[in-house]
Amino acid sequence: MEFRALRLLTLLGLLFVEPGFGQRGDMDVGEWLREKAELLNAFGDKLKDVRALEARLNATVDQLTGQKAEVDRLREENEGSTRAPRVAFSASLADFGEIYKGPCTDKTLIYKRVFSNTGDGYDQSTGVFTAPVCGLYFFSFSTYGYNTHVTGAILMKNGARQVSTYDGLAADGSDGAGNAVALQLVAGDAVHMELWDGGRVFDNLNGHTTFSGFLVFPA
Ligand SMILES: *[C@@H]1O[C@H](CO)[C@@H](O)[C@H](O)[C@H]1NC(C)=O
Repeated sequence: MEFRALRLLTLLGLLFVEPGFGQRGDMDVGEWLREKAELLNAFGDKLKDVRALEARLNATVDQLTGQKAEVDRLREENEGSTRAPRVAFSASLADFGEIYKGPCTDKTLIYKRVFSNTGDGYDQSTGVFTAPVCGLYFFSFSTYGYNTHVTGAILMKNGARQVSTYDGLAADGSDGAGNAVALQLVAGDAVHMELWDGGRVFDNLNGHTTFSGFLVFPA
């Protein structure tokens, strides 16, 4: 519709601007009109080309708009992950000399030699790690002891046993063991290590008896 109106307007325009219209001796009016009609057809074809180009341009614009949205989303996600809390700690039992811990009634192991404590989740005066945020945490620990006592330790979450190491009295001189667990925690959950009843662990600056943990991702 719009296209036909344009053609008509152009034709009218040409009729008016053509100098000496109707007074020319060398070309009759019919021929002149045919010539103009051909020009208009050619113009119409060009217009179709332009429309096709415009459609391609529109498609490109749509694509770019989609890509920009994706980039914005990724940027936001990236900023989110750099804002995410960083929580990690690692400690061993003895910060000097030698420690034989246990058997005793206060069975909590307090790891005194703190290698790292990003986020201050681990309290080196109580031996308790408190989750600062909700998320999945990974813990690992190792224990070492001599054959005079049961050796090993239990990882406790809010006072409940989770995973442990254990070695009973045996003829060999000493025993080392390790274990690990991934735990879903909410902010405020407490994780610590405990001796077995009648158990004993040993440590010195070789770091045989250790406790480490970190936030894998907040959730
Ligand atoms: C291209 O996009 C413009 C703006 O949205 C629209 O007016 C035009 O009709 C579109 N052209 C084609 C060929 O799709």
